Amino acid sequence: MKGLFITFEGGEAVGKSTLIRALDAHFRSSLVQTLCTREPGGSAFGPLVRKILLEAEDLANEAELFLFLADRAEHVRGVIKPALAQGITVLCDRFADSTLVYQGAARSIDLDFVQRACEIAVQGLVPDITFLLDLDPKIGLKRASNRNLDRIEQETLQFHETVRSAYLQLAKEHPSRFIVLDASKTAEEVKNQAIEHLYARHR
Ligand code: TMP
Repeated sequence: MKGLFITFEGGEAVGKSTLIRALDAHFRSSLVQTLCTREPGGSAFGPLVRKILLEAEDLANEAELFLFLADRAEHVRGVIKPALAQGITVLCDRFADSTLVYQGAARSIDLDFVQRACEIAVQGLVPDITFLLDLDPKIGLKRASNRNLDRIEQETLQFHETVRSAYLQLAKEHPSRFIVLDASKTAEEVKNQAIEHLYARHR
């Protein structure tokens, strides 16, 4: 049987990694085989691409878009699809929705073009479930303020507010795929919300 493809989306410092670790432990305790991966960075050349994307001094918005897509195309072909084919459940920190929201909505690159380019990069792969961790960006950026912010985290508050509203709009457009979680709650509460919703949809 094909594994489930679950993606995790949201703004900065919303707690995706904490939730992924908790769900991974939950799945493993139920003997479900999992693979945790992320974008950017999950492909064979992903660490290099991630470094450019998050640390470059200056990058054209269009170059940023194509680097995210190149990483995704390799990630899908070399990592995600082979794992799903072996029946492994894949927990992926960010996927194509991040590109629609960050490059399409927040960077204002033509949305139809971004959508079409994403379709090509994902090679027909659509998540079974997408958890959106929703949080006021003021709270997220405050959480992140005890470390060095990367190039995208350093964007304006308005940029991060556009990211949040574009995600909520996407969730509205795809209600059967998205599960919106209140990320202002404690990690334990967010995990419990996620598991409850997961079982309500996939019995
Ligand atoms: P992370 O900090 O959650 O690992 O994500 C890295 C950053 O990359 C985050 O600011 C969101 C951004 N990003 C995009 O702008 N477009 C994309 O397609 C992806 C996958 C991430």
